[in-house]
Amino acid sequence: MAYRRPLQLRYVLGRLGTTTFNGTTRTLSALPHGKSPSSSSSSSQDLINSEYEYSAHNYHPIPVVFSQAKGAAIWDPEGNRYLDFLSAYSAVNQGHCHPRIMRALQEQAERLTLSSRAFYNDRFPIFAKRLTDMFGYDMVLPMNTGAEGVETALKLARKWSYEKKKIPKDEAIIVSCCGCFHGRTLAVISMSCDNEATRGFGPLLSGHLKVDFGDSAALEKIFKESGDRIAGFLFEPIQGEAGVVIPPNGYLKSVRDLCSKYNVLMIADEIQSGLARSGKLLACDWEEVRPDVVILGKALGGGVIPVSAVLADKDVMLCIRPGEHGSTFGGNPLASAVAIASLDVIRDEKLAERSAQTGRELKNQLLKIQQQFPNCIKEVRGRGLFSAVVLNSKNLSPVSAYDICLKLKERGVLAKPTHDTIIRLTPPLSMSLEELQEGLNAFREVLELDLPELQKTKPKDISPTASEPDTCDRCGRNLWKE
Ligand SMILES: Cc1ncc(COP(=O)(O)O)c(C=O)c1O
Repeated sequence: MAYRRPLQLRYVLGRLGTTTFNGTTRTLSALPHGKSPSSSSSSSQDLINSEYEYSAHNYHPIPVVFSQAKGAAIWDPEGNRYLDFLSAYSAVNQGHCHPRIMRALQEQAERLTLSSRAFYNDRFPIFAKRLTDMFGYDMVLPMNTGAEGVETALKLARKWSYEKKKIPKDEAIIVSCCGCFHGRTLAVISMSCDNEATRGFGPLLSGHLKVDFGDSAALEKIFKESGDRIAGFLFEPIQGEAGVVIPPNGYLKSVRDLCSKYNVLMIADEIQSGLARSGKLLACDWEEVRPDVVILGKALGGGVIPVSAVLADKDVMLCIRPGEHGSTFGGNPLASAVAIASLDVIRDEKLAERSAQTGRELKNQLLKIQQQFPNCIKEVRGRGLFSAVVLNSKNLSPVSAYDICLKLKERGVLAKPTHDTIIRLTPPLSMSLEELQEGLNAFREVLELDLPELQKTKPKDISPTASEPDTCDRCGRNLWKE
């Protein structure tokens, strides 16, 4: 692939060596040549300690420090190389520090970075046309983070519902799915089934109803009962945080039909599933449906800066007028230039096709690993390089998905658990088959060599809550635990 060549030229083997962990030998390879002036000379442990001391404890990271990255490879400050199997939750679909995206960033950064939308700039209109052409919508409303994109879509749906659908003032309802994840703002967590995300943050916003994901009969029931007050149905075409949950075939088509029948906006949150992640440009393309509103984020900024966007046609988008919604940084020229390059890379490097192809290989290999370790792996899910392994928590207990990810890290592979039992595998779409194989070998080794040892040594969780089912505060359903 063309863009890997500079890596070989620019990077020399700085400190090649080997390390032995638990009886297996791993190569410490290809330390980036020299360190940039800004790179830290602190050790990983110092940096982790410092973050713990000075930063809010709102994450529980795998203890590895990113210092440099290229494509699917990451180096820590000590020069250890890792393969990225998370891609910053699919924000790095194009691979880390893609040269074409970096060039766009640098060139634009030297010219103009911010105008605010109090004025025009010479990049945003180009980005707006490029994005709307690529996805076939009339207009875009630019924002920055994914959560802001979702907030924008919710406001747009409410505004449309009062103006066009004539829902009585302040009575608009948004329907969302159990197990959904759309971000962390107050309006967005008001739809969440994740108790950790909602407890202690009330009062949550009213005007939301929940429905089981993948259940079109339940959706129709809600539409029948309350359709005259429902503004929009917000959903992820593949649920990411819930553990890469793929709906039954035909679901997306049914959603389209029901939304049309009951005059409800179909709002697809493609922030994680879109931009080639699932093997198509949008995950909705798997059933060739066209939502009324599409939300994009993450990889739209090429893993460089936050860029999100809401796409819709004029009859919906023009319900928002000057002064009614906005963002100082939304549509800024730097973000626009980066986003144009990010879209170009997705198109020119055929990342959707690559995701489909490499994803097939990943799934086949994971299914083989499942056959080899049927007691450990309950299910393998995936579409393109949007995949997950569901562990059999009963057989693995007390070992968790987090423990497995720690072992993967020690073998040079970075993945993150979602909930207690699921490991999401979502490498950059540019990952080579050799890199994929390296990651799969590490996964096999963890199950074969590390897991038996862990099961012997890890103390059992005997806390009174350990075996209690976790039920959603909002809808009372059992959550994620088997
Ligand atoms: C489907 C989906 N929507 C929204 C978000 C929120 O995006 P951000 O973290 O950029 O606010 C995420 C983040 O993981 C997501 O996966």
